[in-house]
Amino acid sequence: MDTALSILADGLAHELRTPLSTISLNLQLLQEELQTVVGSPPQADTALNGKAEATLKRVCVLQKEIQRLEEVLSDFLRFAKGGSLELLEQDINQVVDEVIDFIAPEAKRNGIEVVRDYAPDMPIARLDTGLVKQAILNIIINAQQAMPQGGRLSVSTSHKEGHVHIGVTDTGTGIPRHHQDKIFQAYFSTKKKGTGLGLPTAKRIVEGHGGSISVESTEGRGSSFIIQLPLGTEPLKPFPPKAD
Ligand SMILES: Nc1ncnc2c1ncn2[C@@H]1O[C@H](COP(=O)(O)OP(=O)(O)OP(=O)(O)O)[C@@H](O)[C@H]1O
Ligand SMILES: [Mg+2]
Repeated sequence: MDTALSILADGLAHELRTPLSTISLNLQLLQEELQTVVGSPPQADTALNGKAEATLKRVCVLQKEIQRLEEVLSDFLRFAKGGSLELLEQDINQVVDEVIDFIAPEAKRNGIEVVRDYAPDMPIARLDTGLVKQAILNIIINAQQAMPQGGRLSVSTSHKEGHVHIGVTDTGTGIPRHHQDKIFQAYFSTKKKGTGLGLPTAKRIVEGHGGSISVESTEGRGSSFIIQLPLGTEPLKPFPPKAD
């Protein structure tokens, strides 16, 4: 995104953050006040008690929605702003493994078997670890969400001709052919609570490193995403990539 848009995004986020935190703070106070009424002895006014309980539930719904708005805003900012890459020489297997360790407990709870298939002789790559982890995580979260009844998540690493590859394969719903060219577009989502920024963010991060993401998917069988990153011998593109 160009600088003008990035400044605009920053301004918008700032304008929204302030009222959002005021609303959030007041809802918190309201919740505490209602809790004291609900928690008061039953001999107190029971009608009032019941009303307070119903209102408390509504306040909780509002709080959840505010939290969601804050998350959407953070996702948007992360996508819009980019920033400069902090490149360090990294062991790809270790980077991938840290993401897997992070998601493994939840995957297990959801009946997802996690298979790690790392090439033992991976070369060192120059990466911004935090951002690359974010990109891998976004792809893995999608994979998990595509397997609500459980399944298998395979994560692999390999290298070839000056590039490293990180593969994420799931046995989930798959992506319909007519969606496959849209999934990297900002705000394209087929999910009730999706913002549609997960894959565009991942793409932006990977392209910022001079790499690319490809996908192969069959409806009803699953999807396979491959992140390809250069080993750092090629000149790195500016991050965020400049719009042509
Ligand atoms: N592994 C996958 N299996 C099936 N569909 C997928 C997979 N990965 C992505 N998709 C499709 O691509 C769409 C876009 O994904 P993206 O991660 O950008 O947004 P999202 O997951 O909908 O929302 P969020 O912003 O919360 O990530 C998804 O809504 C889904 O339709
Ligand atoms: Mg997603």
